[in-house]
Amino acid sequence: MHKNIFAYNNENLKKAAEVIKNGGLVSFPTETVYGLGANAFDAKAVASIFAAKGRPAFNPLISHIAEIDAISEYAIADSRAISLAKKFWPGPLTFVLKRRERSTAMDLACAGLETMSLRMPCHEIALELIRQSGVPIVAPSANKSQTISPTTANHVAESLGDKVDMILDGGACKVGVESTIIDLTGKNAVLLRAGGLSLEDLEEFLNEKILISHGNPDLPSSPGQMLKHYAPNHNLRINAQQKQKDEFLIGFGNCDADLNLSPSGDLCEAAGNLYAYLRQADKIAGNKSLAMSPIPEHGLGLAINDRIRRAAYKG
Ligand code: TXA
Ligand code: MG
Repeated sequence: MHKNIFAYNNENLKKAAEVIKNGGLVSFPTETVYGLGANAFDAKAVASIFAAKGRPAFNPLISHIAEIDAISEYAIADSRAISLAKKFWPGPLTFVLKRRERSTAMDLACAGLETMSLRMPCHEIALELIRQSGVPIVAPSANKSQTISPTTANHVAESLGDKVDMILDGGACKVGVESTIIDLTGKNAVLLRAGGLSLEDLEEFLNEKILISHGNPDLPSSPGQMLKHYAPNHNLRINAQQKQKDEFLIGFGNCDADLNLSPSGDLCEAAGNLYAYLRQADKIAGNKSLAMSPIPEHGLGLAINDRIRRAAYKG
């Protein structure tokens, strides 16, 4: 086990909160993926996140908070945002909102935008770390830029190693894909990233259609949504109805696969396995190239398809 991986106990949590307060980087588990966390108010610490990830640009980061009330400390939240938070937080849902004031301390975390993103993760370790640090913690996924997001402490250590001061081990992430991001700065809610909370659940609660930003230049967009993102080293063919010779098939549902995201066709199970199986396939496929079964385009299937389209993107 990597020397930077720490078991979850009071002593290590306290240590991790000190690291955050002193401008260091702590990787912590959330229900979606492991985050690479820093004090949102400490520009130097935030910059070191980008350095550790090797990110090509300063993308805006999600500020993670531990109470619903903290939204209004940093952002302008209308009743729609508050009711969504009450319904779905803690959970895999991120809001983009107008910043309350352009406090320069958070400029780098927000990439200088007038908006910011906020989420309350559903994971005791994450929430305790935020509480004990006493600041919002910005955290992108804890992996090198353009590689597969980590869902275990070992994935983080493999990708970032000594670039992170501490990795808090909370086992495997339950949801397995990143949070759903919606922009609430305008009249209509806009989906910026499909993720761990389904579009259907959001629309049912809001009782309105959520607009989809992807490919629509007239809607708000997410600066960090690069086409190539979650990339395995092997080529990946998607919507593969059948495994071809010299292919390693990551299957879904009842099929003859080398690894199966969910033999019973359960999209939640598939999301939970997605990143770990992409990694595993990348390691063991050898000379074969990767193929992935079709995934239904509803519920968590939207997030899964979004990620695998990026993983397959050549450009
Ligand atoms: O599940 C998650 O959301 C994980 C865990 C660690 O919480 N975090 C995560 O962060 O996925 P990251 O940095 O990989 O993705 C954040 C996305 C980026 O695409 C970024 O462009 C977008 O959120 N974003 C952040 N602030 C924004 C803003 N003000 N306006 C539009 N997009 C924003
Ligand atoms: Mg990421």
